[in-house]
Amino acid sequence: MPLSRRALGPLLLAPVTARAQSFTPASAPNQPLTQIAQSRGFTYGCAVTARLLADEPEFAALVAQEAGLVVPEYEAKFDTLQPEQGRFDTAPLDALLRWAEHFRKPVRGHALVWHNALPAWVAPAVTESPARAQAVMEAHFDHVLAHTSARIRDWDVVNEPIANPPGSDVPEPAGNSGDLRDSPWLRGLGPDYVATALRAARQRDRTLRLTLNDYGVEADSPSAEEKRRRLLRLLRSLRDRNVPLDAVGIQGHLQMREAFSPAIFRAFVQDIRALGLQVLITELDVREVRPPVGDFVARDAAVARRVHEFASAAFEGGARTLLTWGISDRWSWLHREQTVALDPGDVHRGLPYDWELNRKQMWRALARAFLGQSAG
Ligand code: XIL
Repeated sequence: MPLSRRALGPLLLAPVTARAQSFTPASAPNQPLTQIAQSRGFTYGCAVTARLLADEPEFAALVAQEAGLVVPEYEAKFDTLQPEQGRFDTAPLDALLRWAEHFRKPVRGHALVWHNALPAWVAPAVTESPARAQAVMEAHFDHVLAHTSARIRDWDVVNEPIANPPGSDVPEPAGNSGDLRDSPWLRGLGPDYVATALRAARQRDRTLRLTLNDYGVEADSPSAEEKRRRLLRLLRSLRDRNVPLDAVGIQGHLQMREAFSPAIFRAFVQDIRALGLQVLITELDVREVRPPVGDFVARDAAVARRVHEFASAAFEGGARTLLTWGISDRWSWLHREQTVALDPGDVHRGLPYDWELNRKQMWRALARAFLGQSAG
């Protein structure tokens, strides 16, 4: 399918570029984030949806300009790809892949094995017997990895495996399965489902980058500390058993109400790197306190300070990729998702561009972190 004129038109006219440039503070370079990141050997990108790329020309132009890589926000999740057993629908993902190919942007896959975004048929099937569970997993991998192998070279093979410790927003005690959260995959295959998934992915594509992605490990809090311990325990046990794994994705859904310690977070990234794994920040965005305090300038300054210290600590620890979950507050899941949204009439200002697609201080914070500069 050729790209619609609507999606390309604004890029050719570049109104977003022109407007965005006028908002760049003098102390930050006036280039797309992807270029700034690339100049220091980093990758910047963001999550997108194929529908927005097709329907919102300003969004499409902004992503084309700023992102060096894109991630499908839902198109590569299980329920979209295989809504009924044996019936695959790659049309939404294919639309995104075509857009990315047109703009020469690599795409990350997200996510093969996850407890969320499962169609109704999966849980009963995979909890029937371990053999059935493995067959379901392998059939999904067979189809999806073969279909995407030319375009997606990095997949979140396992997403959010670690159980949330007490004190988390949604605590879930680690059961007798160790540190893993409850999920149909765990119930069907036991704690080895993580290793089974990673091995199955490697078997099907020997050079694919295999990533394990999780959240809730960023803050300076007892529950985040415990979740970091659980994740490191899982990573060490995978390494000890020679299970293939290349990278860890740290989602980076930050919350302003939580404390953050750059030293603690940097050390955690280094601990993962010491296991021979790469580290990516995969889903950065920021939830403000409820209700937010101060005017937009004050709120944006607080978010930018947090983002600068978080990104700088990640880079000092050895992360080379940072992706935001969306790019503008307007289309962020942070206000669509009831459980995390602010009260009606207000939205989290937790992405580099605001509702009207103006650059915010967060953009500048990321630019300066990529450049190894202080918050300024
Ligand atoms: C979110 C999407 O942004 C929402 O649109 C959807 O309703 C729920 O999923 N961690 C992840 C992502 O790994 O897949 C989630 O994406 C956000 C949290």
